[in-house]
Amino acid sequence: MLLGFDIGGTKCAVIIGRSEGDGPMEIIDKVAMPTTQPPYDMIEQLFAAAENLLAKNNLKNADLKGIGISCGGPLSSKKGLVLSPPNLPGWDNIPIVQMTEERFGRPALLQNDANACAVAEWKYGAGRGCENVIFLTFGTGMGAGLILNGQLYSGTSDFAGEVGHLRLSDMGPVGFGKAGSFEGWASGGGIAQLAQIMVRERLQVGEKVSFCGSLDDLPKLTAKIVAEAAHRGDDLAISIYNTCAEYLGRGLSLLIDILNPEVIIMGSIYGRAKSLLDTRMMQVIEREAYIGARQVCRIVPAGLGENIGDIAALSLAAMSRSQR
Ligand code: BGC
Ligand code: NA
Repeated sequence: MLLGFDIGGTKCAVIIGRSEGDGPMEIIDKVAMPTTQPPYDMIEQLFAAAENLLAKNNLKNADLKGIGISCGGPLSSKKGLVLSPPNLPGWDNIPIVQMTEERFGRPALLQNDANACAVAEWKYGAGRGCENVIFLTFGTGMGAGLILNGQLYSGTSDFAGEVGHLRLSDMGPVGFGKAGSFEGWASGGGIAQLAQIMVRERLQVGEKVSFCGSLDDLPKLTAKIVAEAAHRGDDLAISIYNTCAEYLGRGLSLLIDILNPEVIIMGSIYGRAKSLLDTRMMQVIEREAYIGARQVCRIVPAGLGENIGDIAALSLAAMSRSQR
């Protein structure tokens, strides 16, 4: 039996699962909740939820082979510390591995959520059988997990793949406190910021916007609202996604040129808005990335679909037994 915690900027989940040998990862039970402040209360809420979930399934701590904690970074997997992630305000130097091991008495492994998803897609999803796989979260935040030469690559201090921090342009939506960063252009928050800028321009010159009635409604704009409007054919919403696709394509081109992957797998927003992004994104990649590298690289949505975060946390739980 495996226990997983999936900690994200918007929501968290506790998952119980199981895998046998090289078989698939089976999700047995799960409970999800919104991410709330402050961090120590949230962690207590997650621990209590895990204890309830175990009891409900007649499981004891001793039945657990290991515990996986998949969390937005930056973090130190080696030290078991969460280090002030941009999408988890207040989570500064939280010794979450020690807390988990003390509470449950079982080995725990912390990894960046993007790394965990990369492992999950590589073992069980769209990256199966590949040696070089890049996973991009493209949700609340933008982070990459890198499988290189058949191994998870996390870098000298576990910062490899913090691609949301890369600056793609001098100006633009802000991510990581940096205007024009990859996370600024390509994330839920970034798309919402871009929408606010573009919608405000229209409203200020007296034009109507189908998905935002007035300036007062600007703060309510989300990537999802804009995607729905774009799917209905709204021109402005389509151009917001085109702009995102332009920078997504540039970011992908850099990764393709640096790492020459077989497959780039994208989660969350890409799964829901693929048709709004693909045309422009592929044009940009054709324009920007080296032909020899781009021709061999497939770009696909997560094969594990909406279950990816759960399987990612459980995959870490499965690794924790061998690592400690
Ligand atoms: C963080 C990454 C994380 C991503 C998705 C980014 O803001 O820096 O570590 O993988 O968000 O949660
Ligand atoms: Na990473």
